[in-house]
Amino acid sequence: MPIRPIVVYPHPALLAPTDEVTVFDDDLRRLVADMVETMHADHGIGLAANQVADRRRLFILDLSGGEDPEAIRVYVNPRILERRGSQTGEEGCLSFPGFFEVIERPRWIRFSAVDLEGRPLEETAEDLVARAVCHEVDHLDGIVFLDRMSPLKRRLARRKIEKLRRSGEWPEQVLAG
Ligand code: NI
Repeated sequence: MPIRPIVVYPHPALLAPTDEVTVFDDDLRRLVADMVETMHADHGIGLAANQVADRRRLFILDLSGGEDPEAIRVYVNPRILERRGSQTGEEGCLSFPGFFEVIERPRWIRFSAVDLEGRPLEETAEDLVARAVCHEVDHLDGIVFLDRMSPLKRRLARRKIEKLRRSGEWPEQVLAG
């Protein structure tokens, strides 16, 4: 199960909506296994398939940060069905190395998905889990956390990334670990 490179903003894979998964085969299971390994190597708590430049609509979560194998969740073709309330908190993203910003998210959500065998599931989430699910579903819709910043913060972040890119200090992809 190899670790895959994580693409960094503004890689085109991060800026386009992903495609609904219709084939539940070994290749899909291999992708998910690689994503789990990649996420753990990078100490992330969530990873969307397009962050490893794959166009399939799925993401994984592990709120235990790799401590508990039972905590790994796989959500294929997720949709947020309902949002309630709001919360603000700091977010980072593996595709924006070194960036942490305060982002507003719903406090509670209800969402649907299917599992790796294509069986439907519906769940609710709140607080940190709701924040993580919203961040990952945004990825799958081609929306990055930069798009969720206040206009001022977004301008500053864009300018900083532009500067880093010009000086060659902004990677096109990162290898976890
Ligand atoms: Ni992210």
